[in-house]
Amino acid sequence: MTDSAQQTPYTTNNVGIPVESDEHSLTIGDSGPILLQDHYLIEKMAQFNRERVPERVVHAKGGGAYGTFRVTNDVSQFTKAALFQPGKSTEVLVRFSTVAGEQGSPDTWRDPRGFAVKFYTEHGNYDLVGNNTPVFFVRDPQKFQDFIRSQKRRPDNGLRDNDMQWDFWTLSPESAHMVTWLMGDRGIPRTWRHMNGYGSHTFMWVNAGGEKFWVKYHFKTDQGIECLTQEEADRLAGEDPDRHRRDLYAAIDGGEAPSWTLKVQVMPFADAADYRFNPFDLTKVWPHADYPLIEVGTMTLDRNPEDFFVHVEQASFEPSNLVPGIGPSPDKMLLGRLFSYPDAHRYRIGPNYAQLPPNRAHSAVNSYAKDGAMRYEPSAAARPYAPNSYGGPAASAQFGDIAGWSASGEMVREAYRLHREDDDWGQAGTMVRRVLDDAARDRLVDNVSGHLLNGVSRPVLDRALQYWRNIDKETGDRIATRVNGG
Ligand code: NDP
Ligand code: HEM
Repeated sequence: MTDSAQQTPYTTNNVGIPVESDEHSLTIGDSGPILLQDHYLIEKMAQFNRERVPERVVHAKGGGAYGTFRVTNDVSQFTKAALFQPGKSTEVLVRFSTVAGEQGSPDTWRDPRGFAVKFYTEHGNYDLVGNNTPVFFVRDPQKFQDFIRSQKRRPDNGLRDNDMQWDFWTLSPESAHMVTWLMGDRGIPRTWRHMNGYGSHTFMWVNAGGEKFWVKYHFKTDQGIECLTQEEADRLAGEDPDRHRRDLYAAIDGGEAPSWTLKVQVMPFADAADYRFNPFDLTKVWPHADYPLIEVGTMTLDRNPEDFFVHVEQASFEPSNLVPGIGPSPDKMLLGRLFSYPDAHRYRIGPNYAQLPPNRAHSAVNSYAKDGAMRYEPSAAARPYAPNSYGGPAASAQFGDIAGWSASGEMVREAYRLHREDDDWGQAGTMVRRVLDDAARDRLVDNVSGHLLNGVSRPVLDRALQYWRNIDKETGDRIATRVNGG
């Protein structure tokens, strides 16, 4: 045997037993029956049949990478969270995704992009599971499932259907801001590297003195914003459906580590009560003029996962992963999400998903949880109950001050109380009139008319035209002219 042949590892089965052949099943004679005792063949077939876990019910298509978040500015007056203290560096995993498409769907479909960040902090995992949009389509978790079904496939013919999408949107006017965003240039980023990320919700920060603040997160791309036109995106969907996944992998592989600057808007706790917009409504932004961006740090992605399935498919992000110094706000969408994600992971991956490499905390896990399918790390405590007198972990009151806000009242099913300037159309209109320039408005009209002319029937179409007139009369009139053949 040559030296190089000796270095080539021999194939084994899953428990390390050498196998005799990579190519031939065990048979009686060269064309005889296959023997049940060919355990290796059976193991291969059985393993193959179980290779998939269910794809995520939303955000199924994506890609991700590891990297580092470094604090560059002192925000300790607003939060005591260890990862945001001056001088800190924290390892991160980021997964980007589209929302409505399935695993094999093209990366360049018009859709929001997921922007999920897992920070491996000294106090456990902190997950900021955001999008590339600062707002969302609905403001109550009761409507999320209906919204998603309107964006996915019709039960009768298995096709996606613009009629369903506009039916839901026009019957849910709170979607106007997000739909305007989506139909604009940023609705199709050129790559994941060329888009911003937003925590979208309002969160609570608590400083070392126990003082509370409301906060919104903005990851600004250091590569600059770049978008695709509808025509470019349509072409790429055919030529290279994995365009964005490929781009991220290739950039990092080629040593071009993409980065984002994290900035926050901070609102003093007491301002929330009579701010001109309800600060917890996920369909609204806080205008920068009211709460300017404050720099926090830089996030750089420089390591491709060694195995896509292990590190990206099995990555489990959960908005409920909040560390000391950071808490939720009264945003009902966020509160709904706190339940939904760990529940999805238990189903999609299994009850011990938190032990897998992308999900495992980089700090000590001293949980009293035990057993369950696929558990491989021993329980942290010799006696599996608290309190115990055998040296088991004990909860510490020093982590008890993120509690939150006070609430009182009758049990109700009600919309948020409106603040002075709250309505469904205002901020969408501001974006069309003030943020977009003439060329961007022209593309918005093109994108919306193209979408409406693709299978949207009356009366949904009439409602859609009124919806756009409510956002901006002139833009609505232009879309109507296009759609009605003027
Ligand atoms: P500013 O005038 O201070 O800033 C405008 C914002 O719009 C910037 O964040 C800019 O992002 C972003 N933007 C520019 N072009 C587009 C586009 N085609 N699609 C989406 N966003 C775009 O804004 P205000 O804070 O006063 O808010 C005005 C409007 O801007 C809002 O109604 C909202 O629709 C939009 N906006 C506001 C954000 C916020 O958090 N306040 C965030 C994003 C959008 P950049 O600086 O990265 O170029
Ligand atoms: C993924 C539910 C709103 C961003 C998911 C998943 C579920 C879910 C069940 C799949 C999780 C998995 O299998 O791993 C919900 C519910 C919502 C909601 C119930 C509202 C009540 C939002 C909002 C955002 C968002 C508002 C962004 C601001 C994401 C992202 C992912 C995701 C980025 C993919 C995470 C990953 O990369 O693994 N959501 N979602 N979702 N959601 Fe939501």
